[in-house]
Amino acid sequence: MTQRVKKAGDILRDVSLDLLPGQLTAIAGSSGAGKTVLLETLAGLRTPAQGVVLHDGSRPGPAGPEFGLVPQEDIIHRELPLGRTLRYAAGLRMAPGTPPAVVDEAVTAALGTLGLSRRTGVPVGSLSGGERKRASIAVELLTRPRVLFLDEPTSGLDPVTGADLMRTLRTLAGQGTTVLVTTHTPADLAVCDQVVFLSPHGTPAYTGPAAGLCAAFAVPSVEEVYGAVAAGARVAAEPLGELTRPETETRAAAPLVRLGAGTLRQWALLTRRGAETLLRNRLSVAVLVGSPVMIVAMFAVLFRAGAFDPRSPDPGSSAMILFWIAFGAFFFGLSDGLLQICTELPVLRRERLAGMRLGPYVASKLTVMLPVLAVADAVLLAVLRALDRLPTADWPTYGSLFVTSVLASAAALALGLLASAAVREPGQATLMLPLLCFPQVLFSGAFVPVPRMAWAGRAISWAMTPHELAGGS
Ligand SMILES: Nc1ncnc2c1ncn2[C@@H]1O[C@H](COP(=O)(O)OP(=O)(O)O)[C@@H](O)[C@H]1O
Ligand SMILES: [Mg+2]
Repeated sequence: MTQRVKKAGDILRDVSLDLLPGQLTAIAGSSGAGKTVLLETLAGLRTPAQGVVLHDGSRPGPAGPEFGLVPQEDIIHRELPLGRTLRYAAGLRMAPGTPPAVVDEAVTAALGTLGLSRRTGVPVGSLSGGERKRASIAVELLTRPRVLFLDEPTSGLDPVTGADLMRTLRTLAGQGTTVLVTTHTPADLAVCDQVVFLSPHGTPAYTGPAAGLCAAFAVPSVEEVYGAVAAGARVAAEPLGELTRPETETRAAAPLVRLGAGTLRQWALLTRRGAETLLRNRLSVAVLVGSPVMIVAMFAVLFRAGAFDPRSPDPGSSAMILFWIAFGAFFFGLSDGLLQICTELPVLRRERLAGMRLGPYVASKLTVMLPVLAVADAVLLAVLRALDRLPTADWPTYGSLFVTSVLASAAALALGLLASAAVREPGQATLMLPLLCFPQVLFSGAFVPVPRMAWAGRAISWAMTPHELAGGS
């Protein structure tokens, strides 16, 4: 297998290297040298500006079936037990119709290879840092890739755990897998066959056998190579020599064909995993239960029992009651949607590359959340009626009120999902909550009557839910 890169943008210049089956290659260099960019270019995720990357003589497409990619972030849900999260990952990646026994076998084999067999039942979040990294690697081993790319697998690990992980990768390479890692830890290079040492400007200062690195720079230790490279030292590419080339391909098993699951199966798997992740996550359960409790409590405290008696109608309080129900429905949908996507971005990104489609993904979110929202809306109406905060009315009135509330929640859920996909992390999503609630409160017409608004305000108020509710009930 040959891969060559020459110049990816201005970040990397004149990189040229071969990766051979059974070899463990490291891309070393200081932070910002371009290690990740080089790894992603070699994996086919970025197209080089000049030159080519070849996998077995042809250009790789993204998500080529035969490579595994372990990014720096964890690519598994922290809430789920290790065994279950691997089974979901296997279901999503393996060809449709793969028998459950084969899936189980792949999961057991991957866990065994990484020494995690006895941690199957432990939630991923409770694993140690080293175990979690191994778990991410196990996900990639499920489909028995021929090439494995890992971005800084040892960063954040203590030296002993890091060395242990490097030895595991060494073993994987020994079994015939081509392994490429990026690292800025000098000790990691000891078990590698080949090293590409990038200068801070993205030019290779050294490409050759790991064993010859120190000698090439005439320094006693790898630490000092960093100093020499920073000072501008550069060594012409060394021939790898026959030493590190395995004589035969020792690959025992052929890679499993990875077509990815069909749309319906993806939706079913993602829905099950989504529901399970949701229920096991304390924060999301707190939001699910907490927001209806909060809205109902506010309603009960703000208004006296019988405040909305139809026998003494008051246009101001009618607007209020509509506003509160609409706002409740909107708030449930928005708060539930906001944490849905940003909390699993690394998983989502990785699975997209492995063939997961966005249609089934979004559909699975709606399938999990809409019933939850419908229950919350029903509870809101039922409790407020029971507390006499809502007036007596016939079933069709409450029925249409309920349907309209669910529609308002669904619209807010869609808005929440959109915002969740737009932000980078949960902290930002939390900031979006008040930001997106403000227009809903101010332009609803409950505080400033719509006819008294400026024309732009009147236009915005049409998009707010009390209008829908007023029309609906
Ligand atoms: N998509 C991008 N657009 C512009 N610059 C980028 C992009 N990705 C990375 N870079 C820049 O390329 C350089 C190398 O980045 P990276 O490969 O992530 O470094 P590292 O060696 O720490 O992994 C950095 O200066 C980074 O800011
Ligand atoms: Mg990096």
